[in-house]
Amino acid sequence: MSHTLPPLPYDYDALEPYISEEIMKLHHTKHHQTYVNALNAAEAAYAKASTPKERIALQAALKFNGGGHINHSLFWVNMTAPSEKGGIGGVLNDGPLKEAILASFGSLENLQKEFNTTTAGIQGSGWGWVGVNPTTKRLEITTTANQDPLLTHAPVIGVDIWEHAFYLQYKNVKADYLNAIWHVINFDEAQKRFIEATTGSKL
Ligand SMILES: [Fe+2]
Repeated sequence: MSHTLPPLPYDYDALEPYISEEIMKLHHTKHHQTYVNALNAAEAAYAKASTPKERIALQAALKFNGGGHINHSLFWVNMTAPSEKGGIGGVLNDGPLKEAILASFGSLENLQKEFNTTTAGIQGSGWGWVGVNPTTKRLEITTTANQDPLLTHAPVIGVDIWEHAFYLQYKNVKADYLNAIWHVINFDEAQKRFIEATTGSKL
């Protein structure tokens, strides 16, 4: 069964002024669509491959484009309109996620500071993550390179640190993008993932 581009759960300009409409349109309709198309092509080729060597040759394309599709699908629902536009972006309400953030980081501000420092250090392209450690069930910050999906933790929040995610608006100033993104993070969605991960229903 082939993969399709999931629609955004909001308008392309919903995340402004933090993420521009131009970025969202290109990122969703061009970048993500390309990962979907290439994943479908790689899976079709894999299904037709008749030797181990042919299948091995497709591993990199499957990982890159499969990861790109998984990561972006999570990223879109990970964001929502900011609070000053009547949305819930950036608003962390009382609940299990807030309790876990306080337990692991002391405050949301500390988590954001640590996350931004860690992800600013990614060399080249990659993703920043807040995830649940499956052993300790605690929240941790980690990164993955390229389009590698997060496999060591259950993803709670994922942020695209590829230049295509911010360059048109923030140019080379990755720090400004990282500060801005917290205004549109959907903590309700993050809490849903956190609960799934910590209750063992999904990892
Ligand atoms: Fe991206």
